[in-house]
Amino acid sequence: MGSKKLAKVNTPLPGKRAAAVVSKTQKYVSPSISRFYPLVVESAHGSLVRDVDGNQFIDFAAGIAVLATGSTHPKVVEAIERQANKFIHFSYTDFYYKNLVDLSEQLVSLVPGSFEKMVYYGNSGAEAIEAAMKLTRNYTKRPIFLAHSGAFHGRTMGALSLTASKPIQRKGSIPLVPDAVHFPFPYCYRCPWKQTFPECDYYCIDYFKEQYLEKFVPIDEVAAYFFEPVQGEGGYVIPPPDYFRRMEFMRKEGVVFVCDEIQTGMGRTGKFLGIENFGVVPDVVTLAKGIASGLPLSATVASASIMKSWKPGQHASTFGANPVAVEAALATLEVMKSEHLLESARKLGATAMKRLLEMKEKYEIVGDVRGKGLFIGVEIVRSKKTKERGEKEAKEIINGCFKGGLLAITAGRNTIRIVPPLTTTQEELDEGLDILEDQIAAVNSMVVRA
Ligand SMILES: Cc1ncc(COP(=O)(O)O)c(C=O)c1O
Repeated sequence: MGSKKLAKVNTPLPGKRAAAVVSKTQKYVSPSISRFYPLVVESAHGSLVRDVDGNQFIDFAAGIAVLATGSTHPKVVEAIERQANKFIHFSYTDFYYKNLVDLSEQLVSLVPGSFEKMVYYGNSGAEAIEAAMKLTRNYTKRPIFLAHSGAFHGRTMGALSLTASKPIQRKGSIPLVPDAVHFPFPYCYRCPWKQTFPECDYYCIDYFKEQYLEKFVPIDEVAAYFFEPVQGEGGYVIPPPDYFRRMEFMRKEGVVFVCDEIQTGMGRTGKFLGIENFGVVPDVVTLAKGIASGLPLSATVASASIMKSWKPGQHASTFGANPVAVEAALATLEVMKSEHLLESARKLGATAMKRLLEMKEKYEIVGDVRGKGLFIGVEIVRSKKTKERGEKEAKEIINGCFKGGLLAITAGRNTIRIVPPLTTTQEELDEGLDILEDQIAAVNSMVVRA
């Protein structure tokens, strides 16, 4: 194991100052927010985070896959300051400003597809999804949405109708938007039909056709198919390579393909969009999280023919396309280019995968390791053979990491996600992986002994 040079934890956690903030937060802030452990941030730069008690952590969570350019990148900070000194808000619902045109021009060329595209802006991922839902229903004049079980598309009432990753997210909010139909995602490690890829020959698609399209979903009434190219909150699940291409048969029936790139986009997987790893060009793409390096901004990028079905007034948001967030997004794109962040995601991702696959060989509790670029999931199990989910064990590992100076979080029930900033150095990555391995080894020996 390398010596721990960057991570420095010198107090019990939470420290005194952190404990005070946690207890006041519990008093004043909605209990619907669920946190992993008591980190109270004081400052953060790049991939290093300081808490209020002076401890320093390596960041493998990146503000939940948001901080692609790292925390407080100087070029992003400079852009925010520059724009804040000019004007902070003017509402694109009623007025014009130029940086919005600059960003839109870049986004429509970065999003794949050699057709004309247009952009709708909101403030959050859920808003981008809401916009895509309204837009595709309006365009197709059809009522049904298709989405996957395990999907996460947000928690507002519309987006929540498509979300199906944990019952708690819907609890108390049902009924939702009607006619959202969910079907299984190709989660090969836990194939619902106990098949093995590639021998299965995409049985999941046959099942979808037989049990859904031939039984109760009239395809000519489906407005859109919403999907994450790699499921995020569902547990970092990577579909087999041809899955989305084979699903394209639905497009001939007029189903609009909406690709949710809120977590996978902005270079995370080593390509600008996650779907570029699968050779399919969607009709609509939703972006948020990393788009403005942490400022609230989201984009729904659609083919112009779809977007032009909207008439003035049909959809808008006062704070959408906030000019400071737009300037931060322009700086984010500039940093991605000048610092070759897609290449970094691929390179660092490859070294991380190598280490993690070695851990899979070594430790009983590492059931599966799957990743694209710096979007990596490590699924923790109680036994490789039974694949019993190691929910408690995954929690113990991330809590141990926190105490060891690494911020890692889970996705789904028992997967540890590794999503550091794309600006992370090899040294930071290696030290973070050392801390993670220490914790995996410790929990592994307890499980094996039990
Ligand atoms: C794939 C995906 N879609 C949508 C959302 C919702 O985004 P927000 O929390 O900004 O509303 C998330 C958030 O985690 C996400 O990962």
